[in-house]
Amino acid sequence: MQGRPPLLNLTENMLVFSYIAGKIVIFIDRDTCLALKRRSERADEMETVQGQGQLKLFEELLAEYAGDAGSLITILQKVQEIFGYIPGESIYRIAGSLGVGPAKIMGVATFYSQFRLEPVGKYLIQLCQGTACHVNGSERIGRAIEDMLGIRDGETTADGLFTLKSVACLGCCSLSPVMMINGDAYGSLTPDKARSILMEIAAGEEKAG
Ligand code: FES
Repeated sequence: MQGRPPLLNLTENMLVFSYIAGKIVIFIDRDTCLALKRRSERADEMETVQGQGQLKLFEELLAEYAGDAGSLITILQKVQEIFGYIPGESIYRIAGSLGVGPAKIMGVATFYSQFRLEPVGKYLIQLCQGTACHVNGSERIGRAIEDMLGIRDGETTADGLFTLKSVACLGCCSLSPVMMINGDAYGSLTPDKARSILMEIAAGEEKAG
């Protein structure tokens, strides 16, 4: 059986761009290209890894917004609420429901930093690398977190508990350096403080079984 065509037709060394609504040009670097390509190749995951409850909510969402291409961002936000990220397969389903190309959906999903295209751990650590945080030592905080959890930026721990993600300004520069964990802000960080926050969360999870 013939598989789906890729969202983007890429070769290893291409620098590609795509248009959104014929107006905005988005340049995508090679790493992002390859990540998108991998997402495309794994687009059948949704049927196999998502629960029936999530799929039901997703089907209801598609039915509610069928043909409403102007609500694309809202739809993507709701898809992320349902699954915790935007699965590759959902891109095709949304495209079909709205009557637009999957590359356009992918273009919007990659343009806005709020959208995640990979599954994340139970706790998403967003470490600010904005100017104020950078000046006040966010790199040291990042290294401390990476060493403690044994992951690099963008990765998830093997137990699925933590994902570390460097982000731009979180909007609370007076507390710099800052990280957010599942939407809660932790400011005036030091490496020790960051470590103890994470240890507390891990201990709470262990206690809860
Ligand atoms: S620079 Fe980190 S919160 Fe603004």
